[in-house]
Amino acid sequence: MRDKIMLAENIYWVGKIDDRDVPFHRLTLTKGTTYNSYLLKTEKPTIIDTVDISFGREFVDNLKELIDLQEIKYIVINHTEPDHSGGLGSLAAKAKNAVIVCTEPAVEELKEMYKLHNREFHIVKDGDALDIGGKTLRFLETPYLHTEETMVTYCEEDKILFPCDIFSTHVANYEYFNDMAKEDITEDFKVYYTLIMHPHRKYVQDMIEKIKELQIEIIAPSHGFILRKDVKKFIDIYDNMSKNTVNDKKATIIYSSMTGNTKKIGNLIKENLEMSNISVEVVDVNKRAKEEVISTIINSDAIFFGTSTKYADIIGNLEDILKELKDIKLEGKIAGTFGSYGWSGEAIEVVQDYLKNTDMKVLNTADIIKSTGMTDVLFPIRVRFSPKEENLKQIERASIYVAELLLNAL
Ligand code: FEO
Repeated sequence: MRDKIMLAENIYWVGKIDDRDVPFHRLTLTKGTTYNSYLLKTEKPTIIDTVDISFGREFVDNLKELIDLQEIKYIVINHTEPDHSGGLGSLAAKAKNAVIVCTEPAVEELKEMYKLHNREFHIVKDGDALDIGGKTLRFLETPYLHTEETMVTYCEEDKILFPCDIFSTHVANYEYFNDMAKEDITEDFKVYYTLIMHPHRKYVQDMIEKIKELQIEIIAPSHGFILRKDVKKFIDIYDNMSKNTVNDKKATIIYSSMTGNTKKIGNLIKENLEMSNISVEVVDVNKRAKEEVISTIINSDAIFFGTSTKYADIIGNLEDILKELKDIKLEGKIAGTFGSYGWSGEAIEVVQDYLKNTDMKVLNTADIIKSTGMTDVLFPIRVRFSPKEENLKQIERASIYVAELLLNAL
């Protein structure tokens, strides 16, 4: 029987220490890692996150030593990546009475990943609370830290934050708590932040804002050390490292708009970039001299080219500019394409073809997936007619991605 690792009364660590060289997001974690899962043994026993998929059966066998699995009432899944949700398939098969608690975007993923189509889900929204009989869990959505569906869970009575990936370290340690660690963990903590969280640092600031009001005595993440000493110091590290830095990067948005919809997209990109302290100039290509537009491009770090589509082609003077670019030295600059269309949006693709003949880094979805794993940063930005609710998120994600590239975070 394993030692019982207790965080507070009736709260147990039930995870897995993985002290191999662990392959992870095209990296190798040479210090290994842990997959921290927690059992809250209340009147309605609750599991918070599970373990990596390779250890699902072992996880369930260990759990049986602490609780009759039929008694488990809730399984909280803060984040769906299989290093944390991976034990859910094995656990749900045995804990037949358990309801799965997660955010709305997580439901379909979990159903498909673990064949849970007939299972009961309890969907939580930002700020919702759940009475688990003797303890109260509060859920805060933390989208894009580091995937869309993520949330953190806070136990009000014990003042413990369960933030899954956030505030983690990749160290296979047998001490469990940072105050028991043999060495200072600060550097490992910062390395983890830089690798996993920093590319999403706007959302780190949103998360810090949300947890600011909580009294947090322990942070119990899902990798590495449980933080019960210097908690504020570790939150401050995230806060400081994710704050916008002063920079002198400039983006230019050049557009040719037929009815005003492409112009609207350009202005939305501008607003999002400016929130990341990037200075932005917006240029209506039909109202400026060609030489002036080209000079603006040469003096920019990132350039967005936008056009409406009319009769399957670019409109206005934009093509005159694009024709010139292949003969100009533009190495190191980032180029993105956007546009509104009504039928098939061919002009956006024509712009993209022109840009590929320059020496700029031209953004496209496939390359972004390959280099970052982000599946929701879509380039070119294509909007049918005027930008609607669902387009706003796409434009925000694309703009923030470019801002982070300019700030060398990606
Ligand atoms: Fe530790 Fe995003 O998984």
